[in-house]
Amino acid sequence: MAPTNAPPPRWNAALGVWDGDRAAGADFVPPDPLYIFGYGSLCYKRDELPSDEEFVGRVRGWRRLFAQSSTDHRGTPEKPGLVATLLSDAQLDALGLRAADEPPSACCGMCCRVPKDRVADVLDALDFREKGGYSRDVVDVERAAGGAGSVRALVYSATPENPNFVRPTSIDAAAATVAAAVGPSGPNPEYVFALERWLREVGEEDAHVFELAEAVRRIVDAEG
Ligand code: BEZ
Repeated sequence: MAPTNAPPPRWNAALGVWDGDRAAGADFVPPDPLYIFGYGSLCYKRDELPSDEEFVGRVRGWRRLFAQSSTDHRGTPEKPGLVATLLSDAQLDALGLRAADEPPSACCGMCCRVPKDRVADVLDALDFREKGGYSRDVVDVERAAGGAGSVRALVYSATPENPNFVRPTSIDAAAATVAAAVGPSGPNPEYVFALERWLREVGEEDAHVFELAEAVRRIVDAEG
């Protein structure tokens, strides 16, 4: 697919989405074949994407963080929820969110190859779905089970510059936001718990997700 010369994206503050209802970063060439790396709902809800190959993958130098306000999926403009984004170590360093002596980050997720005849409609649907402040990047994905052959995959990540980015303060503050939010895609806690469950099923650690899920569970249980 040829790159386009689309104008830079404009943020619609009232709706909390990119104008034109599209993810930002139109001027890029998607990998061919098209692999997509998902670190959120794609992990536990695979009917979201048609795929003819899928595997549990790992990207190095990136970290999953609940730092993206969701006004159109797991929350509303009045009561936004919080969903995961993927930040590079360079972004974390610039935000002061990574200690100088920390080893490089890594994030485990699902990597899916989109059948050739579905590439155009999948990209179109994802650009619309990820309109709430997401940008597109291409990353190297290793197979978590080991073995040769990484793939280049497209990833939608919410960058620190997007207006829906929420700089993480404490797990308790994040948990309170999640516990209170419901959006068109369902209750926000459901998203956190499903991701936690998937990580445990595939035997992968993500201390941030586990800690947040515990804190949300405490609030939800206390509310009865
Ligand atoms: C994600 O979970 O990150 C994701 C979900 C659907 C499509 C692409 C990515």
